[in-house]
Amino acid sequence: MKNCYSLFVWVYFCTLFGRLAYKSSTLGCTEGERIGLLKLKQAFKPGSSTSAFSSWDIAQETDCCAWENVKCDFHNKRVVQLSLNSTKLYDDSEWYLNFSLFLPFQELQNLSLNQNNLRGFHGVVNSSKLQMLDLGWNKMDVIPFFGGDTLHSLKFLSLENNWFTNSSNFNELTKLKALETLNLGYNYEMVGHIPPVISRMTSLKALSFGGGSNLNGFLPKQGLCRLRKLEELDLSWNSFSGVIPSCLGNLTSLKLLDLSNNYFSGVIPPTLFPNLKLLEHVSLSFNRFQGTFSFSSLSANSKLKVFELQSQDKNELKVDTENPPWTVLFQLKVLRLSNCRLNEPTGSIPSFLLNQYQLRLVDLSHNKMVGNDPSWLIKNNTKLELLNLRNNSFTGSFLLHPNRKNLNMVQLDASMNQIHGELPKFIGTVLPNLFSLNMSVNALQGRIPASVGDMKILKILDLGNNDLFGEIPQRLVVGVLLLKGNNLDGLIPSHICDLKNLTILDMSSNKFSGSIPTCLYQIPFGSKKLIDDAFTTSEPGWYIDGSVDEDTNVLITDVEEEIEFMSKNRFESYKGNILYYISGIDLSQNKLTGPIPDELGYLTSIYTLNLSHNHLTGSIPKTFSNLKEIESLDLSYNLLSGEIPLELTQLNFLSVFSVAYNNLSGSIPDTEAQFGTFGESSYEGNSLLCGPPLEKSCIGSSPSPTDSVTLSPKPKDTFWDSFLWSFLVSSVAAFSGIISLLYSRGYYRQPFRSR
Ligand SMILES: *[C@@H]1O[C@H](CO)[C@@H](O)[C@H](O)[C@H]1NC(C)=O
Ligand SMILES: *[C@@H]1O[C@H](CO)[C@@H](O)[C@H](O)[C@H]1NC(C)=O
Ligand SMILES: *[C@@H]1O[C@H](CO)[C@@H](O)[C@H](O)[C@H]1NC(C)=O
Ligand SMILES: *[C@@H]1O[C@H](CO)[C@@H](O)[C@H](O)[C@H]1NC(C)=O
Ligand SMILES: *[C@@H]1O[C@H](CO)[C@@H](O)[C@H](O)[C@H]1NC(C)=O
Ligand SMILES: *[C@@H]1O[C@H](CO)[C@@H](O)[C@H](O)[C@H]1NC(C)=O
Ligand SMILES: *[C@@H]1O[C@H](CO)[C@@H](O)[C@H](O)[C@H]1NC(C)=O
Ligand SMILES: *[C@@H]1O[C@H](CO)[C@@H](O)[C@H](O)[C@H]1NC(C)=O
Ligand SMILES: *[C@@H]1O[C@H](CO)[C@@H](O)[C@H](O)[C@H]1NC(C)=O
Ligand SMILES: *[C@@H]1O[C@H](CO)[C@@H](O)[C@H](O)[C@H]1NC(C)=O
Ligand SMILES: *[C@@H]1O[C@H](CO)[C@@H](O)[C@H](O)[C@H]1NC(C)=O
Ligand SMILES: *[C@@H]1O[C@H](CO)[C@@H](O)[C@H](O)[C@H]1NC(C)=O
Repeated sequence: MKNCYSLFVWVYFCTLFGRLAYKSSTLGCTEGERIGLLKLKQAFKPGSSTSAFSSWDIAQETDCCAWENVKCDFHNKRVVQLSLNSTKLYDDSEWYLNFSLFLPFQELQNLSLNQNNLRGFHGVVNSSKLQMLDLGWNKMDVIPFFGGDTLHSLKFLSLENNWFTNSSNFNELTKLKALETLNLGYNYEMVGHIPPVISRMTSLKALSFGGGSNLNGFLPKQGLCRLRKLEELDLSWNSFSGVIPSCLGNLTSLKLLDLSNNYFSGVIPPTLFPNLKLLEHVSLSFNRFQGTFSFSSLSANSKLKVFELQSQDKNELKVDTENPPWTVLFQLKVLRLSNCRLNEPTGSIPSFLLNQYQLRLVDLSHNKMVGNDPSWLIKNNTKLELLNLRNNSFTGSFLLHPNRKNLNMVQLDASMNQIHGELPKFIGTVLPNLFSLNMSVNALQGRIPASVGDMKILKILDLGNNDLFGEIPQRLVVGVLLLKGNNLDGLIPSHICDLKNLTILDMSSNKFSGSIPTCLYQIPFGSKKLIDDAFTTSEPGWYIDGSVDEDTNVLITDVEEEIEFMSKNRFESYKGNILYYISGIDLSQNKLTGPIPDELGYLTSIYTLNLSHNHLTGSIPKTFSNLKEIESLDLSYNLLSGEIPLELTQLNFLSVFSVAYNNLSGSIPDTEAQFGTFGESSYEGNSLLCGPPLEKSCIGSSPSPTDSVTLSPKPKDTFWDSFLWSFLVSSVAAFSGIISLLYSRGYYRQPFRSR
């Protein structure tokens, strides 16, 4: 009984204290602000789709500081931040917001109205403490009017991805005396020159017109060079031309300079870098520079972390990393030097790389470099995530140190070189986290190391066009397996059927013999769209507020994370969903015998099947009528006999079809639907076939063996051949597209146009 009583007292006091605590917190959130927030909620008229205001409850006397997207000062409980991003996203009508709705929040510092279909404000932006205003991704073409203390408080203004043009009232911005960051990027309607008033905004530390405006002309020298406090200047993805004004070299606070993807020409001024001692990130990629750029002009830039100078084909730019001699003070994280006429005439690999050990992304592709394969880069740089050496002339073997694991490496491309010798036996243990390995078009010998099976997240393995022999290792976990053009032999191992995530299997032009494993049908081949954890990439980027981000991985394979990152900053990213759409098997040009297993007809999701140039016998399985998705079916140059199953005419997506050069007989299925599009070349070289499109009529024709000789012309480069080629090439291009995206900065980084 006594216990019961004390329990009662205890509960009573708990409730009492609870209530007191509750009261005191509602005291914190002032009534005026609570009502102000509710009015704001009303103004947004949140549609059914938005949950942003679900906790903004009229009925209960809740503490409005606890409401979602509202942040109060810890001590005085006044609203200091409102994050109203994407609150009106799904209601596509454009609207104006009356700024006086924000006047109750006298302590408001940060206001984010990103992605709300805003056309603009009614009234003046004059919150007295406002420091940060994010109006990105709206539909404004008039700069808001600023007044009151905001003129001296506002530091950060994002007007990214709106409808501003060069005729917008930029004068308004010059009133903002404290403005440090101005983001006018991705304003696609902006053409012409940089608004000249920019030169009066001398408080600016970060300025962006980057990402896809249409500004052009020569850089207004005096304009930008007057902004002496600039730390970040992003003019990427515009149409600027002419030489880079050397006065930019006087902006001594500069940390980031992105002039990539423009039409800048002439020499890169050697005076550009020596005074920019704080420089961390330089991107000059994809312009039209000429002359020679010498790395010696970077010898003062001890803070440099990102250097990008990719060229286009037929480039005029020469890059010399050796002469004149210089001292390296920087430790780079990202180096992209692609398609540059690097160190002509010796083609030596930049020697400064010997002393870099913080590298995370290195692209040295298409440089005609010679010398031994620089796999020491992997050993020296344990943080390396991506290495691209494609299309050089590296020789020697690919060497790895068995005890130097690199757990960060996700992508390695050393294709199109002259690397020979065997792949290191322990490659899978040293690089266990590879996502993509491309060593194709080299002179690799020996067997595929079994340890490749230890790469547990490998998605793409391309070892095509080498001199590999032997078998395919067990325990592989790839999605795309490209082994064409080697000397692999023996039976196609049935353990290949364990590759449940396979979407593309290319084993063409090898020496595989025996019959096609019937178990192949057990591979879903795309029906489960297994490369889901998409192939996304970004790179150590920068926030417009000034710091090169330290901790972001080069490759982010988590889609959720990617979206998160996209909204925060300007990382390029790409989701490789092209891989969703291709699936296929290519076993052509081998020595395969026996019949085509009926079970292949269960590959109902496959897009391409190429079994040509083998010694396959028997008839075309009727089950092929189940290949509902198939677009390309090539069975030519085999020993198939019997009739072409009429059921094949059900294949509605088939656009490439060949059974040429077999021993098929009977009449060709009705030339209706898809089959109406296949010409003679799809059937030629089968002496016993008859009917259109072949000239031989089926009526009264009795096949005679002598006919066959005369009827079999030499294979020609026929229409379908070229069609097939273009199909193949486009598939391959799709892949290399994905890969090259990783290397070439940001082709996909422009957000969708909202207009
Ligand atoms: C709103 O957007 C800004 C900038 O895009 C971002 O920094 C902030 O985290 C976003 N807030 C919310 C609640 O999504
Ligand atoms: C904005 O709100 C204020 C205060 O409620 C009001 O006086 C003013 O007329 C409004 N402006 C417009 C254009 O609706
Ligand atoms: C406002 O935003 C800036 C930058 O995101 C942040 O550093 C600051 O803490 C925010 N202020 C408040 C009061 O939340
Ligand atoms: C802001 O401007 C409005 C008129 O748009 C005015 O009523 C208000 O007093 C101003 N507030 C401040 C703090 O300047
Ligand atoms: C805007 O750009 C167009 C095209 O370059 C030009 O004709 C026009 O004069 C510019 N307007 C202003 C206000 O700069
Ligand atoms: C850079 O500044 C120096 C002195 O501050 C000046 O003499 C020089 O002309 C400037 N260079 C350019 C290219 O503007
Ligand atoms: C990088 O590797 C090269 C070649 O093995 C070696 O000479 C150099 O000292 C290494 N550098 C570092 C920083 O480890
Ligand atoms: C290889 O690189 C050279 C430049 O070094 C370039 O001209 C050529 O087009 C590249 N080849 C391929 C296939 O990319
Ligand atoms: C297939 O992929 C999934 C997810 O990427 C993975 O968990 C699974 O182990 C893979 N299975 C095989 C057999 O490779
Ligand atoms: C071609 O097929 C016919 C029967 O349709 C058969 O008699 C003949 O032997 C076959 N020729 C070859 C070379 O297989
Ligand atoms: C099938 O493979 C052969 C030889 O590898 C090739 O010539 C042909 O173009 C391929 N067919 C298709 C449809 O891709
Ligand atoms: C591998 O590299 C070769 C040559 O550079 C390229 O053609 C091929 O598309 C690459 N493979 C993949 C899967 O990207």
